[in-house]
Amino acid sequence: MSPLKCLLFFSALFLVVQTFGNAETCSDCFTHSRATYYPNSDEKGTEVGECGYGAFGATINGGDVSAASDLYRGGVGCGACYEVRCTNSYYCSDKGVTVVITDHGSSDHTDFILSRRAFSRMAQNTDAAASLLALGIIDIEYRRVPCSYPNRNITFKIDESSNNPHYMAFVIWYQQGESDITAVQLCETQTFECKLLDRSHGAVWTTTAPPSGPLSIRMLFSADDEDEKWVVPSNNIPGNWKPGDIYDAGVQVDA
Ligand SMILES: *[C@@H]1O[C@H](CO)[C@@H](O)[C@H](O)[C@H]1NC(C)=O
Repeated sequence: MSPLKCLLFFSALFLVVQTFGNAETCSDCFTHSRATYYPNSDEKGTEVGECGYGAFGATINGGDVSAASDLYRGGVGCGACYEVRCTNSYYCSDKGVTVVITDHGSSDHTDFILSRRAFSRMAQNTDAAASLLALGIIDIEYRRVPCSYPNRNITFKIDESSNNPHYMAFVIWYQQGESDITAVQLCETQTFECKLLDRSHGAVWTTTAPPSGPLSIRMLFSADDEDEKWVVPSNNIPGNWKPGDIYDAGVQVDA
């Protein structure tokens, strides 16, 4: 090989190596894993998922929900959305299904335990869905995708365990986008005094001494690229909040 040809050859090789290198770190790439579905479940998810969403956790996203194993991340992963598609080209569609994490769990090295409904939706058709269900545990690939709830704002549901004014617990519904809620502050609307709350489990935030009067719940959204942003709702929680109440934050996030 002439020196010039040799140089061209190695330049080309370098380009190929670089392209593959990028492909492995790109954020849109799928990760290979395994998935199964809830045993004995009806179509949708579980109402007692560890995220603490209650009945909402079974039906959010039309019931396309899942328990996560490591991706649960101590509750930080609650509410995150993943595109999951199975890899058997005979049974599986290219698109797969987009699920919301509402529970924690694993079964024989799976990353996801999908609702029956979501599991079936990875198939090309009804017959293929029956075959996938019969297999039980299947090879999949997944990637994080933004959640989308058209015409919904972020919503706070006061947990039934709350007891105004001694104990307040709430969950956060309908977080859009691809960021995690990593901290929550409860602020008095008159003094603007805020305190950080504890994540008791899953998507449930608690305090034993909620201030009296209207309250503002601020959320810290953290993205993969370490971008962080406090979101301040435009609607407050009224001072006479009650267990079971549902409040529209009047804001939504997209990133
Ligand atoms: C969301 O919040 C905006 C601004 O507060 C409000 O105008 C809108 O009605 C809310 N959307 C829903 C679906 O409640």
